[in-house]
Amino acid sequence: MTTIEHEASRAVVKLPPGPRLPRAAQGALALTDRRIALQMLRRIYGSAFTIDLPIFGQLVVISDPNHMRQLFRAAPDVADTTDANLGRVMGSNSMFAMMGDRHRAQRKLLTPSFNGRRLAAYESIIEREALDEFALWPEHQTFATLPSMMRITLNVILRAVFGADGQEFERLREILPPGISLGSTLALVPVPQWDWGRWSPWGRFFQYRREYDAIVDRLIEKARADPGLRDRDDMLALMLQSRHENGSPMSRDEIADELITMLAAGHETTATTLAWAVERLQRHPQLLDRLVADIDTGSEDLLNATIFEVLRTRPVIDTTFRQVKAPTVQIGPWTLPEGTTIAASIGLLHSDEAVFHDAHRFDPDRFVSRRPHPAEWIPYGGGGRRCIGAAFATMEIRIVLRTLLRNHTISPSNARDEGRKSRAVALAPSRGAMVRVCRR
Ligand code: HEM
Repeated sequence: MTTIEHEASRAVVKLPPGPRLPRAAQGALALTDRRIALQMLRRIYGSAFTIDLPIFGQLVVISDPNHMRQLFRAAPDVADTTDANLGRVMGSNSMFAMMGDRHRAQRKLLTPSFNGRRLAAYESIIEREALDEFALWPEHQTFATLPSMMRITLNVILRAVFGADGQEFERLREILPPGISLGSTLALVPVPQWDWGRWSPWGRFFQYRREYDAIVDRLIEKARADPGLRDRDDMLALMLQSRHENGSPMSRDEIADELITMLAAGHETTATTLAWAVERLQRHPQLLDRLVADIDTGSEDLLNATIFEVLRTRPVIDTTFRQVKAPTVQIGPWTLPEGTTIAASIGLLHSDEAVFHDAHRFDPDRFVSRRPHPAEWIPYGGGGRRCIGAAFATMEIRIVLRTLLRNHTISPSNARDEGRKSRAVALAPSRGAMVRVCRR
């Protein structure tokens, strides 16, 4: 671009309004309660505003469904993911780290793992894991369900995605959750990449990664030697048989980076959504009774609507980010210059009274006879980077909840709603979704 063109594009830049407080003061405000701070800013400035935060810098927050659609429809050379994301720690072959054509080609390669036939094959794995976990639940005492949900979704990913079993399964269960938790902090916080073994955060992370790589090598070796590889449904088996457009197979590094990406993206997110479902249902006893009766007839209509509503009212990823890659991008009346980080606020959109009637009410009936509108309901993001595991996650949530409600009775509760607590990746119920149950 010539200087004149650059000047021309600069001249039309028009950012949404926002607070004029110093960066540190805005950061302190965001730290108090991000959700309440964002809602306050929306009340003052409207659906788009500009804020300035420590670490992130200047951020344009949007939440109008039309603005969101414009952003998600933008080509990757106009707006794509930001550099500061999980891709920094998952490896350069992680889908999070890729952009443009490379990202598009990688999605094409991995999408068949999530098609209908494959998903159906995962249903029995999910049901078995859920039954095993729920069999351990104590009766008539209050306990937190999030740890259980975390175990179910971890085991499911290790079996359905990694194709892991035996020793590898056990060891991955031990090292991956703490490794990913540490990695997700390192992806955001600028800590120097010193490898001082367990004395430095990156050193600890590299230790996890080395052991993880060695286990993935063993899984790949075993899968290659498996005469039944072609009939296997796990994602690792599919990756080993897939071919890039030029006919080359996926490299070992690509496979290792993508497997851990699926785990980082799909484990905690699905578990926290399940925990929120439990947190919500016990506070809505009439709905709970109707839901159990509906499931007993073999219907899943109310169950599906409930899942939509849990994902609307408690989106566990409440913001997704893009960065402007073109000289400028037009979002509604705003012209944003290259490099601007745009925060698409899923939480603000889902709680907008102008979009959802009685938005703060938990009311699955709103989705019984009307599926959510794809521009208004975006718990899985949108466009070319929409969650690749969305169908997998929704199916898993459906099977786990159905199994739970068929086998246990959840006691109604009039306890205060649980707050939102930021974990490694997702926003979870602050007390871990406490519940009291008995067997049916
Ligand atoms: C309730 C569960 C889940 C929620 C709420 C969720 C939500 C999201 C969101 C909001 C994004 C960003 C989309 C965007 O920027 O437009 C995303 C991306 C992604 N998710 Fe999920 N996710 C869930 C489960 C899963 C599962 C089970 C998997 C895989 C097994 C998965 C794999 C991914 C991947 C690989 C990406 C990056 C896609 C890309 O950059 O192209 N997610 N997810």
